[in-house]
Amino acid sequence: MTDRKPERLSPDDEGIARAAALLAEGGLVAVPTETVYGLAADARRGDAVAGIYRAKGRPAFNPLIVHVADTDTARRIARFDAGARRLAAAFWPGPMTLVLPLAEGSGLSPPVTAGLDTVAIRVPAHPVMRALLRAFDGPLAAPSANPSGRISATTAQHVIDGLGDAIDAVIDAGPCEVGLESTILAPSAKGVRILREGGIPRAKVAGVAGPILEGGTTAGRGRIEAPGQLERHYAPRVALVRRGKAVPGEIRIGFGPGPADLNLSPSGDLAEAARNLFRVLHEAEALALTRGAPAISVADIPETGLGRAINDRLARAAHPGEPED
Ligand code: TXA
Ligand code: MG
Repeated sequence: MTDRKPERLSPDDEGIARAAALLAEGGLVAVPTETVYGLAADARRGDAVAGIYRAKGRPAFNPLIVHVADTDTARRIARFDAGARRLAAAFWPGPMTLVLPLAEGSGLSPPVTAGLDTVAIRVPAHPVMRALLRAFDGPLAAPSANPSGRISATTAQHVIDGLGDAIDAVIDAGPCEVGLESTILAPSAKGVRILREGGIPRAKVAGVAGPILEGGTTAGRGRIEAPGQLERHYAPRVALVRRGKAVPGEIRIGFGPGPADLNLSPSGDLAEAARNLFRVLHEAEALALTRGAPAISVADIPETGLGRAINDRLARAAHPGEPED
């Protein structure tokens, strides 16, 4: 071990082998996925999983997503019905997480699921993460690699700026391709609920699963559904507001053509805006702090396709008050 933390690892065989060795020792390694960077630890080890909660300042009631190499491995950890199998076949590997009943003998450390009898599980598509899962040969718990409640990380530098020496290493594989977290789905005999909008748009889910059941994104009947879906999240350190036009003195984030300090997509492309969202929020925060700007304002984004997930993140980032999670 070097004493300079975190180690910055390259996304090649050597870096992946080093990451797997650190994880096998119970270490914390930030990893690239196609959605955002994750903060990974061995999902079977209580000490390692406790380290994730500590490094992020994450409340113990907010469970983690388990990452595995393939659907066969997922089926040893969670119970799949026909609907879940159909979704897995359609969207894995990829930016979809399924919340399913925990299987008997899953081997997961209980804090991974925060004591729930369900588990959130996903097979990521990023080639480096896939190579790491093969090299490590076990399930990796990995929430997004940001301090709890703050802006998610889509580059290794974001991870280092946010978590610094609280983690052992980060694999630097460049910016994430999708840029938004996975879509979280809860399939059941009655249909599918969307617990979090994300990298797979609602219409694509409906194309496989049929009509979406309503009421998924809010906690119903006092039961915790997606405990991390708190009203204030993804928060920059400067107030964020949504408005149709720029106001002098504020940092302006544009979408489509027109003057702006930063732009999610000058051509108005939603996939590009998704990819840029968290980087632009990090840059807007830094710019606002440097200039002493009172606020960051964001242009309107259409509520279609990936626009729904972008608007979800922006609404939470703009919610007043301190981040709750
Ligand atoms: O794209 C992603 O999903 C990224 C990458 C790293 O995989 N991960 C991610 O993790 O976004 P995190 O921890 O930031 O968000 C996970 C969400 C939280 O809102 C959490 O409450 C919810 O998943 N979750 C986890 N287990 C759950 C469960 N059993 N039931 C309901 N929601 C759950
Ligand atoms: Mg997160």
